[in-house]
Amino acid sequence: MDKKPDDPRRQQIIDLLQENMNAEFRATLQYICHRISVYSRDSVLGESFKSAALDEMAHILYFSDMIDKLGGAPVFTDWPVHSGSSITEMLESDIALEQEARDRYSAQLETLKDHPQLHTLIESVLSDEEDHHNEFSRYLSSYAGDTIKQ
Ligand SMILES: [Fe+2]
Ligand SMILES: [Fe+2]
Repeated sequence: MDKKPDDPRRQQIIDLLQENMNAEFRATLQYICHRISVYSRDSVLGESFKSAALDEMAHILYFSDMIDKLGGAPVFTDWPVHSGSSITEMLESDIALEQEARDRYSAQLETLKDHPQLHTLIESVLSDEEDHHNEFSRYLSSYAGDTIKQ
């Protein structure tokens, strides 16, 4: 790929990486908020949120490093996060974020077919998002039937 600043393909990829980086910031912060909110009630779920947040933080850096490599400058947006005390609402919001991530990265596998390094990176990130989605969904099913804890 051409590294010239006016290469439209390069700019398209940098824009896509910026979107990914900011979505990963949002997920990181939301899962840390949820970890803090649930830890005293369910430390196992709290650890699950923390572990997902650490994965998302690693994803931020994969994308920001790629932006650097392509000669772009990372741009930070706002990162709205869900907060509240209901565990089922937290999990529903987190599952929605994971579904957005899966949709975004699945679409990018198509867009980035001509860029093997990025394609491999997106495949690996997508696999993490699928794990998060599955884990949060398992917790939601166990909480859905528990009217005391939710
Ligand atoms: Fe992620
Ligand atoms: Fe995720």
